[in-house]
Amino acid sequence: MESTVTKGLCKIDWFCSPSYCLPWLLLLAGLLVVSYRNFMFGEHYAGKDLKRGKEIDPKWKIESFHPVELDAEEICDLDEDNLIGSGGTGKVYRLDLKKNGGTVAVKQLWKGNEVKLLAAEMEILGKIRHRNILKLFACLMKSGSNFLVFEYMENGNLFQALHRQIKGRQSELDWQQRYRIALGAAKGIAYLHHDCSPAIIHRDIKSTNILLDEDYEPKIADFGVAKIAEKSPVGSNSCCFAGTHGYLAPELAYTFKVTEKSDVYSFGVVLLELVTGRRPIEEQYGDGKDIVYWVLTHLNDRESVLEVLDQKVATDSVQDDMIKVLKVAIICTATLPSLRPTMRDVVKMLIDADPCTFRSPGGNSDKNGKLFL
Ligand SMILES: Nc1ncnc2c1ncn2[C@@H]1O[C@H](COP(=O)(O)OP(=O)(O)OP(=O)(O)O)[C@@H](O)[C@H]1O
Ligand SMILES: [Mg+2]
Repeated sequence: MESTVTKGLCKIDWFCSPSYCLPWLLLLAGLLVVSYRNFMFGEHYAGKDLKRGKEIDPKWKIESFHPVELDAEEICDLDEDNLIGSGGTGKVYRLDLKKNGGTVAVKQLWKGNEVKLLAAEMEILGKIRHRNILKLFACLMKSGSNFLVFEYMENGNLFQALHRQIKGRQSELDWQQRYRIALGAAKGIAYLHHDCSPAIIHRDIKSTNILLDEDYEPKIADFGVAKIAEKSPVGSNSCCFAGTHGYLAPELAYTFKVTEKSDVYSFGVVLLELVTGRRPIEEQYGDGKDIVYWVLTHLNDRESVLEVLDQKVATDSVQDDMIKVLKVAIICTATLPSLRPTMRDVVKMLIDADPCTFRSPGGNSDKNGKLFL
């Protein structure tokens, strides 16, 4: 017993001896110095950097969603020479960042209802992440001026890519590229409808709101008028009409009840643009008529269906694949919302129409050239 106590006391003595304590004390002091330096360093940068989402200047309010280093002063110092374009919600500029050499797109919102737009974009884009949804890096608010900072899309929007004249080439986008854009955009919208909870209805799907990166990967943009399905009770949207002529589902003429199926209709119009290379509204369609009407009047036989396809890309080897996508577009633009597929179905149908998938000998084309679709 005694010997155990003595042994214990010996241990304590040794523990308290300078040879044991000194290294530990030095280590502890070192750790304290390092922590203090890190704390001071962090404080210093919090004052300069937007990436931490803090206020850099009492006049600025910043919300950031991605770890990208941005300088508020640089973002507001926009050069008219770098104006990309303007739309219903604001002016968009290209901005080459000085710090890391990257490029971003900055949208300066028009004065007026920008707070509502800003809130919608921030609430939706700040939270979601998908390969086919445009990334919102940050929002900047300063008395009266509001800026949204997005990833920059090298190839502009789909409408431009479909109608740009490329020297020595028939079309900037061949059928394979158009098909990949259709599938990517469908996946982006399907994600909003089926994988976000509550579901998100975009309400302004159109070719100018589908942006293309340097590899022509499509990204859905412009969530300013989007709606979180569950939040708005039926009929609550009557005050905020949204959408674009030529893309609006027919039911929106008599009801304000917006559902996922109105996005499906608008996406069907985009598919028609990809297949035909035409605009949603053209004089040729007739007074008050649109691309959906025009295509429906061309479905009697294979010859008239072939007339609908964009001649710039419809080579013999891709005609049948284009017709498969045309078929999906026609189902999406059905007058009755209940007859339209869901976006998940659309993705499946497009995958089935993949030109790279195995096709059984003989395929499904009508050799007699009768009613084709
Ligand atoms: N992140 C981006 N990268 C590159 N270009 C962009 C980006 N965002 C928008 N743009 C381009 O800026 C221009 C203006 O876009 P904006 O969304 O304001 O208008 P819009 O799509 O033409 O019309 P709407 O207001 O009806 O959506 C378009 O040409 C668009 O392609
Ligand atoms: Mg837009």
